[in-house]
Parts: sequence; C-alpha cells; structure tokens
Amino acid sequence: MSAPNKNRGAEEDPIRHHTYDGIQEYDKRLPNWWLFTLYGAIVFSIVYWMYYHLSGVGTSGHELLARDMAAVQEARLANSMGTLGDAELWAMSKDEKFVAAGRESYSVNCVACHLASLRGKEESPTAIGPSLLDGEWIHGGTPSEIRAVIANGVLAKGMPAWGPVLGDRKVIELVAFVMSHHEGPAGGN
Ligand code: HEC
Repeated sequence: MSAPNKNRGAEEDPIRHHTYDGIQEYDKRLPNWWLFTLYGAIVFSIVYWMYYHLSGVGTSGHELLARDMAAVQEARLANSMGTLGDAELWAMSKDEKFVAAGRESYSVNCVACHLASLRGKEESPTAIGPSLLDGEWIHGGTPSEIRAVIANGVLAKGMPAWGPVLGDRKVIELVAFVMSHHEGPAGGN
C-alpha cells in the first residue's frame, strides 16, 4: 500500500483497502447529524405511512381534496337546483352518490304504493302506484317531467306532492334513483 496523505484525519480514520484510479478513501464515520437525519426520515416515513395509509386514522391530501370537491359540488347544486336541466339530471342518475340517497328516501316514502321493485301495479294489483320501470309514463318521461310529478304530485289520482314534504334536494335524489333504472337520453349519452 502506498503511503497515504497523512495530513488529514489519518490518525483516527483508517484507509479503505481499495484504490480507484489511484484515489484512496478514508473510512470515515458519517457525522451524527447526518445519521440522525437519515434515521429520523426513516422513522417519520414509517409513522406517516401507518397514520395515513395503513390505519386510515389520518386524512390524506387525497381525501381532503375529495372532501373539498364534494363541498364545491354541494354548493353548486344548491345554487342550481332551480335550473337543473335534463342533461344534469341524467348525469346525476349515473352518480352513485345521488342514486344511493334517492334509494334511501324511496324505501321510506315510496314503496307503499310503487313497491320496492318499483313495479307497482304491474307486480301486484293491490299496489296503488304505476310501475316506474316500464318505459310508459303518464306524465312524460324526461327527468324534468318526472321531477315535476314527484314534487307536485297528482293529487286527484292519489300521488302525493313530495316537494313540500321532502324539499328540492331529496326530490332530485329521487329523480336520480328512478332514472338510474332507465336508459339515458335518446341518442345515447
Ligand atoms: C299513496 C301512494 C303513493 C305514494 C306514497 C307515492 N306515489 Fe308516486 N304515484 C302514485 C300514483 C297513484 C301515481 C299515478 C298518478 C296518475 O295516474 O296520474 C303515481 C305516479 C308517480 C310517478 C309518475 C309515473 C308516470 O307514469 O308518469 C312518479 C315518477 C312517482 N309516482 C314517483 C313517486 C315517488 C318518487 C314517490 C316517493 C317519494 C312516490 N311516487 C310515492 C301513488 C303514490
């Protein structure tokens, strides 16, 4: 082994046994601050991973974003409730969030007359309401027309007006639920 440069730290740090292009290395211990940063980062990453991903306790950025987007959608919906057109209502009928909410209020308010199957009279002669599954609509089959029937009812025929009882929001969810059983607007979607 050729004589190393003895000037720098050679007393405490041994020389490594290899030589690359005539260059030798001290076998220097990594400084504590460096090791502390490394081990700290490893511990942090494990804790982070367990907190946000493994346990589901922490709210990840992804979930925060989803929550904020839902709030934005909610606010938009509240603003546009009066002006929702057929296209928006069809879109909602393909959004499980609205459909699920509609399914729930349907099971509370509508099954008595339209039955859980939505087939009403078609399934059982003792049911009062007509089928909401067949493509035949007494009062028109666009989502806006369905919405109007649900909201205003057909009192003379025994269909209650649900607008005043449930409010706009729930009526729209019910439209989404009913229309989720039907094909989108004519001409595809
Ligand atoms: C008390 C019985 C009753 C209840 C409860 C009831 N409906 Fe009806 N519904 C009827 C009847 C009867 C008709 C038919 C009206 C007519 O002949 O014009 C009808 C018609 C409808 C129509 C129009 C069907 C068409 O062919 O145009 C829709 C949509 C509808 N109901 C949805 C609902 C929803 C949603 C609920 C729950 C929030 C509900 N109904 C609760 C009795 C009921």
